[in-house]
Amino acid sequence: MKDGTKLIAAGRPKRRPSHPVNTPVERASTYLFPTYDDYIEGGRNIVYGRLGGATHRALEESITALEGGFETRLAPSGLQAVTAALLAFVRAGDRILVTDSAYDPTRKFCRNFLARFGVDTAFYDPLIGADIAALMTPNTKVIFAESPGSLTFEVQDVPALAKAARQGGAKLIVDNTWSGGVFFKPLAHGADVVVHAGTKYFSGHSDCLIGSITSADEQAAKAVFEALLQIGANVSADDAYLTLRGMRTLGLRLNAHQENGLALAKWLARRTEVEAVLHPAFKASPGHLTWKRDFTGASGLFGVVLKPRAKPATKAFFNALHHFGMGFSWGGFESLCIHVHPEKNRSATKWAKEGPVLRIHAGLEDIGDLIADMERAFAAMNAAKG
Ligand SMILES: Cc1ncc(COP(=O)(O)O)c(C=O)c1O
Repeated sequence: MKDGTKLIAAGRPKRRPSHPVNTPVERASTYLFPTYDDYIEGGRNIVYGRLGGATHRALEESITALEGGFETRLAPSGLQAVTAALLAFVRAGDRILVTDSAYDPTRKFCRNFLARFGVDTAFYDPLIGADIAALMTPNTKVIFAESPGSLTFEVQDVPALAKAARQGGAKLIVDNTWSGGVFFKPLAHGADVVVHAGTKYFSGHSDCLIGSITSADEQAAKAVFEALLQIGANVSADDAYLTLRGMRTLGLRLNAHQENGLALAKWLARRTEVEAVLHPAFKASPGHLTWKRDFTGASGLFGVVLKPRAKPATKAFFNALHHFGMGFSWGGFESLCIHVHPEKNRSATKWAKEGPVLRIHAGLEDIGDLIADMERAFAAMNAAKG
């Protein structure tokens, strides 16, 4: 099956004489076992609400099919998918390698939380490629990649990272949220575990927080399951249902996000106020050739570096936007634009650009309206002091 069909077919109810099209919301804390033997045998799947029920299993099935994995488990947020995946594979005395372009709360978890439990983090240049082998030590147990980085959009050489991880006896975990699971397949490129902030494209409607962890094999899946179980992670059946509903239109939405994103990025690249466009499909964007080799498309999230301007001009730009909302997260149907500060989230590499950096999420609005909105914002910026 191709992705378009998998997204429609996976996670649907089993055939009965008649059944609903969608797996229903199954709300439960307690599951009852019909016999004593059933109770004793239990099984790993549906025994208690915290481990999820039929709705959760259906969503997990859909994500596993999309990522081509062995098993998927859900987490209550994208961040907890990241943290649980890391916790699954480390112990005191270990070291992990984390991309310098990682989502800031991921960095903070490594630097602050894991450090308290004796796990050391070294950050690496996202464009390091095969040279990461030189950073491996006998106690390096995880390489954590986010490709492309969700603020600065460097695309990483996942096959090269996977090779170094394999040779060094470490696991490669990839945050694949940007590709929506459609445009990039980390497991097919050698990763051991893929995480998603399903909050973004999977759910797709800015109304639910959820995460997923998909493992390539049984051994990794067992470690992930134990981590989530012992942390006590729980996802509501309603959120699992909403996300599964989002999966049905994921492919269509991503194509539309891609189209609007590319059109906006091309328009922005021609503006005199713009210094650089950080969009993996652009030749000058970092890691573009890797994107071309490994990805089949681009989602709607990208960055723009403006030429240096004083604060009042930047403020005037944002305050003039109407269709682009100013808010955190991305991947919903609506367009967003925020001012981000990559220079604050780096340690292995230096962010050398001086002008304001915008992170844009191209939503599903009419492209003419989005461009007109940006045009108005630039006019307001140019009219402002600075
Ligand atoms: C790349 C990436 N990973 C993980 C997360 C965390 O997801 P959540 O907000 O669902 O915790 C985010 C959120 O912005 C993200 O951009």
